[in-house]
Amino acid sequence: MSTFGVTLKKVVDDSYDIEIGFELEETLLRDLQNGLVGSVKKYAVVTDSIVKELYAEKICRMLQSAGYQAELFVFEQGEKSKTRKTKEMIEDAMLAHGFRRDCCIIAVGGGVVTDLAGFVAGTFGRGVPFINYATTLLAAADASVGGKTAVDTPLATNLIGLFNQPEKVYIDIAAWKTLPEIQISSGMAETIKHACMASGELFAYLEKHMQDLFSVQREVCEHIAEENCRIKYHVVEKDERESGLREILNLGHTVGRAVETVSDYRLHHGEAVAIGLVAQAKLSVRLGYMTGQEADRVVRLLQQAKLPVAIPAYIDREALVQKLYTDKKVRDGRLRFVVQKGIGGIVEFEDGVFATPVTEDVAREIILQL
Ligand code: GLY
Repeated sequence: MSTFGVTLKKVVDDSYDIEIGFELEETLLRDLQNGLVGSVKKYAVVTDSIVKELYAEKICRMLQSAGYQAELFVFEQGEKSKTRKTKEMIEDAMLAHGFRRDCCIIAVGGGVVTDLAGFVAGTFGRGVPFINYATTLLAAADASVGGKTAVDTPLATNLIGLFNQPEKVYIDIAAWKTLPEIQISSGMAETIKHACMASGELFAYLEKHMQDLFSVQREVCEHIAEENCRIKYHVVEKDERESGLREILNLGHTVGRAVETVSDYRLHHGEAVAIGLVAQAKLSVRLGYMTGQEADRVVRLLQQAKLPVAIPAYIDREALVQKLYTDKKVRDGRLRFVVQKGIGGIVEFEDGVFATPVTEDVAREIILQL
């Protein structure tokens, strides 16, 4: 019998830029021509049925006119498409069009598109580079940045995926002008989450400028996009793989993800997160980390963003309690919650530990109050 020691030490530099601005299609082309992904000439532009006509076709044509081989791969819009089946459909279509390892994927769209396309990129030909061109506030605030890619399963959201960092992220704020109001609200939930956990200043700014955001006022949108990136990256740079600190980006998501799944995606992700933020605020008050007035401020800001602050009547409360156990923070069968501290802070329960066990009875009590 023999034993071979396989030494494979890696030094990885996954650094990349996030460019925030208005109408960044030409910037993307210039970056590709300047070698953003080396000498790659083949681009798979992955998008959904809505963003296709708004932006993706234009980007695809622009690449073709510049002499690149570019093809569009389109799937039906909506969270219900974020599945292994859609991933397989895109992979098969890419293979049929002759795409192999020498390609790059450009995800053009919101969070569903960037989550799915980033996951395809992570496994296609054992990994090809990808770029996110984010067209929604939700993608700008959360999904397109940070390198989490995944698909949903019937059991719960985001259970199958990879940490996979893009080559670059473009946040095109001009695209927010074509968003339905519900999409602005949905992205605001992740923005409010960032403010709740890390910045009292951002929280106060949102209280003051919510209307400017809905009318896509350029300066306000740019400020919000920058603050989202600053807060998120402060966390991701320290703990990319979520071994501790990154759990704080889960604020509001324990109840949020569960209610999203139990609603069968009738609730948008941001709407579900808003309900989850109210749940964690109630828990925080109960545990003594927030005052009732601070929790009321959170509720009011969510309402200003036209987000729900109560669980819809059609949701089966007991099914929701049981769904909490599909959360990735569950340890040894115990529910764990991230908890806000005042406005703009997060509770560190022990050194480097940011989630606390909560009994099922307490979780049920909070859900029944909502
Ligand atoms: N959306 C939470 C995270 O990126 O960790």
